[in-house]
Amino acid sequence: SIDIATLTKQTGYTALDQGFVNTAATKSAITYIDGDAGILRYRGYAIEEVAQHSTFLEVAYLLIYGELPSTDELAAFDERIRRHTLLHEDLKRFFDALPHTAHPMSVLSSAVSALSTYYENELSVRDHDQIEAATVRLLAKLPVIAAYAHKKSLGQAFLYPDNSLSFVDNFLKLNFGTMAEPYEINPIVSKALDRLLILHADHEQNASTSTVRLVGSTEANMFSSISAGINALYGPLHGGANEAVLNMLGEIRDSGQTVKQFIERVKNKEEGVRLMGFGHRVYKSFDPRAKLVKESAEEVLAALGVNDPLLELAMELEEAALADDYFVERKLYPNVDFYTGVIYKAMGFPTRMFTVLFAIGRLPGWIAHWREANADKSTRIGRPQQLYVGAPARGWPTDR
Ligand code: ACO
Repeated sequence: SIDIATLTKQTGYTALDQGFVNTAATKSAITYIDGDAGILRYRGYAIEEVAQHSTFLEVAYLLIYGELPSTDELAAFDERIRRHTLLHEDLKRFFDALPHTAHPMSVLSSAVSALSTYYENELSVRDHDQIEAATVRLLAKLPVIAAYAHKKSLGQAFLYPDNSLSFVDNFLKLNFGTMAEPYEINPIVSKALDRLLILHADHEQNASTSTVRLVGSTEANMFSSISAGINALYGPLHGGANEAVLNMLGEIRDSGQTVKQFIERVKNKEEGVRLMGFGHRVYKSFDPRAKLVKESAEEVLAALGVNDPLLELAMELEEAALADDYFVERKLYPNVDFYTGVIYKAMGFPTRMFTVLFAIGRLPGWIAHWREANADKSTRIGRPQQLYVGAPARGWPTDR
């Protein structure tokens, strides 16, 4: 690899790399991806093993602190997070100012940004304890904010967190419980959601994580940086793809077009028509997360007794695309977002909550990257170059 900064100084050339196809913005020790071989590892552990043996909170610990926790360390981490779930009552009222039609991703990023206003004196980017506090607060409160965004869209009352419950169970109850009736956790849903969160927990320098690192490089606090990351995730080419996939499946079903007709429209590059949930900048043989999600989709729907024709349709689309030269030549395979929506739907989440679930999963990765960059003395403010292609210098017209 070449150090572009040195090369630029030596040669005077600027490398144009639109979309950062070949420019590493940082060194990182958190997540390893080999896109050609379909390998993903968190801190050296293969995603397949992590998904099988771990829990979301344990993975969060691993990503953030670098090693798997001992039983005591995990229990202490879990306890700290449980004790920080409550939102300030004023922040709960913040939701009143937003329309109930608001997209939950906008609500989420706004509320996370607003969260920092309650800790004005604890936002140091140098003080270890304050960084720890921000870490725990974000992990504890993001699911609560997310659930309130959901409840707000339904016009239902917000529940208080129940700290006797595990991270995921608490989240489920906040979303699906009501003031009127006791809520019973379905262990199938709970386990499946925990697994999905694990699969989303980090993915090295994707657009939202790079955003978090870039904003963090200005020494902006963790809340502000992560709020920016949530906004980057919102777009349909990134985390918003899970919502876009379900909308696409629904549109195909409702319009009565066949899979073949839809695939032709994609291949003809009709404006705005892409096979959402397909393709990835890094994975060129398969996305290992997509494989695991597909297995989960089949298992969860069967276990819940849900027979969703959209799952069939997704499988048909996958089969048709993988047998088509257009997709084969361009190395386009299902990514993590292709099957997640079908599972979230079976769990009872509305489509507009899908990317919010992605954000909860990705949070440990964002925090780990913010902290890694923050602790690295060689981190400099991120400041990309440009190649100017505008008008040359010219005089102000005197005849105006
Ligand atoms: N459907 C149809 N064609 C596609 C798709 C797709 N989903 N993805 C890429 N292509 C085609 C492009 O049209 C292009 O074809 P061309 O060479 O004839 O012009 C070629 O494949 C390369 O595509 P790019 O857009 O240049 O690839 P890039 O690496 O920039 O984009 C991306 C990657 C954004 C993921 C893209 O594949 C895409 O838009 N996918 C659909 C959205 C999606 O699922 N996003 C989630 C990604 S995973 C994540 O963020 C969690």
